[in-house]
Amino acid sequence: MITVIGSINMDLVVQTDDFPKQGETVLGQLYTTVPGGKGANQAVAAARLGGQVQIVASVGNDSFGKELLENLQANAIDISGVRQSSKVASGIANILLSDGDNRIIVVPGANFEMTPAYIDDMEDQIRSSQLVIMQLEIPVPTILHTLELCSKLHIPVLLNPAPAGGYDKEFMRYTSYLTPNETECEQIFGTDMKTALESYPNQLIVTLGSAGARYYDGEKHIIVEGFKTKVVDTTGAGDTFNGAFAYAIVEGFDMKEAVQFANAAASLSVEKFGAQGGMPTRAAVDARLGSDQR
Ligand code: ATP
Ligand code: RIB
Repeated sequence: MITVIGSINMDLVVQTDDFPKQGETVLGQLYTTVPGGKGANQAVAAARLGGQVQIVASVGNDSFGKELLENLQANAIDISGVRQSSKVASGIANILLSDGDNRIIVVPGANFEMTPAYIDDMEDQIRSSQLVIMQLEIPVPTILHTLELCSKLHIPVLLNPAPAGGYDKEFMRYTSYLTPNETECEQIFGTDMKTALESYPNQLIVTLGSAGARYYDGEKHIIVEGFKTKVVDTTGAGDTFNGAFAYAIVEGFDMKEAVQFANAAASLSVEKFGAQGGMPTRAAVDARLGSDQR
């Protein structure tokens, strides 16, 4: 069982030819709402591949909350660990899309109702996990508390440190896998990527966009190439990578195989619109792995 402890958002997506400059108004081409949130996305990525997944999270008691929970259920995710806040609205992400690039503002709403006490209430449910996945869209004290709990329960944790502003240097002590992108890696460690990787062998995996991902195995740097593809929307590429990596580790893949599998899954996810729209099945990933598209 994979347990995701993290955010659920409704993504409010606007597509535009040009991002507006400061003080400017432009006309966009499309507005739509799609399910998102880094926690929900990573849960859907792992579940769509065939993983057994539960999510511990919080949504508002509103129409977005209802829709977001229905979406998780439709993806075969156990939502018994989700609370509905009567005080705060569901989290949303304001996403501007232009020419394959995105700019995102997240308003956490009910995601910030997740307290350390709530995690304690969920201890029995968390205990059954083979792996816990977290991101940084819930309060920092809750993340730290959950890391300590998982350490006590001997459950490995995959922490995707995004958005990196919420990173606390205590996290690394309790984290089995940390998966920043290049910018987040620099922001977190304040050093060049090579030095950071060498400080955390087999623990730090840096994603490199279309170039794939890399880690240090204690002796050498392992660069796992990405898969070439036609990009429609990269929103959720990192989430697909994390959900797929978690699934592969739980399936017993070694580190390199798991990174390769995650690259293949994430390359498929960018071919469709929306964070979850292109998340692939296991059969689709296996087909890409066999396709030699690197
Ligand atoms: P995002 O914020 O867009 O979800 P991210 O910034 O967290 O992503 P990236 O390093 O950009 O993380 O991408 C994560 C993974 O997605 C990469 O390691 C790679 O496997 C895959 N990926 C991203 N962009 C592309 C692309 N253009 N073509 C193929 N694979 C891609
Ligand atoms: O990683 C993509 C996600 O970040 C979006 O779905 C959005 O909700 C934000 O949390």
